[in-house]
Amino acid sequence: MIRIESLASRPEWVRVLAHWHFAEWHGLYPGWTAEAAEEELGQHTDPERIPTTLVAVEGIEPVGSVSVVERDLPGWDHLSPWLASLFVRPEFRHRGIGKLLVSQAVAKARHIGCEALYLFTPGQQEFYAALDWQVIAQAVAAAEPVSIMSKRL
Ligand SMILES: CC(C)(COP(=O)(O)OP(=O)(O)OC[C@H]1O[C@@H](n2cnc3c(N)ncnc32)[C@H](O)[C@@H]1OP(=O)(O)O)[C@@H](O)C(=O)NCCC(=O)NCCS
Repeated sequence: MIRIESLASRPEWVRVLAHWHFAEWHGLYPGWTAEAAEEELGQHTDPERIPTTLVAVEGIEPVGSVSVVERDLPGWDHLSPWLASLFVRPEFRHRGIGKLLVSQAVAKARHIGCEALYLFTPGQQEFYAALDWQVIAQAVAAAEPVSIMSKRL
């Protein structure tokens, strides 16, 4: 049984989430470090304010997370806020947890009063398209082509 908790109420999970995120995405952000990832997530201290992070939990274990942040892709600061850092631990994938995290992040952004959400992805367009996100532009992140997608809330 999966439940969703706010990272704001579980600061002891900041380090493990930072480790997942850095291992998965360091190639997209040249110069980024695991310590920087930890410091960023350490600022997600309010479940009702951006930046904020939701954690999927099974039993007592964090198994995935998603964030809503003000900025995510250099050069695209005119779009905000962003759904970012969606991650599910490999052994927990294909059980609907990714979908659940996206829907909870969308609900959170709507609750906070956002009118739209944005994200960028190098390879998961189909996953998001199935959840009613639309591709609105193509961009480049660290020399890798990415799609920018949005969802009206
Ligand atoms: C993308 C990710 C979060 C999906 O998590 P998940 O818990 O496996 O997702 P779900 O179980 O909710 O997926 C629901 C459905 O979405 C679709 N889907 C999932 N991953 C997909 C992919 N890579 N491409 C296309 N469709 C995908 C499938 O239809 C899936 O159903 P299935 O279980 O029958 O395959 C996970 O694969 C992950 O953490 N990947 C590494 C990090 C990453 O790429 N994050 C996104 C960055 S933009």
